Amino acid sequence: MAVREILTAPDLRLKQKSKPVEGGVTNEHRKLMDDMLETMYAAPGIGLAAIQIGEPLRIIVMDLAKEDEPKAPRYFVNPELVTLSEDTAPYEEGCLSVPEIYEEVQRPARVRLRYLDYNGKQIEEDAEGLYAVCIQHEMDHLEGVLFIDHLSRLKRENALRKLKKARKAEAEARV
Ligand code: NI
Repeated sequence: MAVREILTAPDLRLKQKSKPVEGGVTNEHRKLMDDMLETMYAAPGIGLAAIQIGEPLRIIVMDLAKEDEPKAPRYFVNPELVTLSEDTAPYEEGCLSVPEIYEEVQRPARVRLRYLDYNGKQIEEDAEGLYAVCIQHEMDHLEGVLFIDHLSRLKRENALRKLKKARKAEAEARV
């Protein structure tokens, strides 16, 4: 396993649409998922899409366990939303590719999803709460969409300005 570099906005690679995994889940995909998980834990974060480390494949890793709980990694290959609830819920989201920015986003409160797991087995299940938020956020990454793209233009521009400022301060601190 290896910790990989996480791309951050406005890196254009984050805007591309990821391709489905064809021909089942192979050891190569599992190696990528292992790297993604290690990268996510090191960040630390609760979810990561492959494109965030520059791999345009429809693969996501996630771990929603609290700090005092044992690790509970989840792996999603070719995830699809089967149904979305009509009612929405707000959640203050953040993203490893948009560091330091946290903004409230409204999304369907519950979803039903279908995906292949680490071993290539097809799973269909319901998600609500943080799980529903996180899977929708990560699946947006597969379409080249960031959570700040859900904000009003004013809020998005403010967020990007803040991000630029933070990056500049970081660069200066490194000198
Ligand atoms: Ni994200």
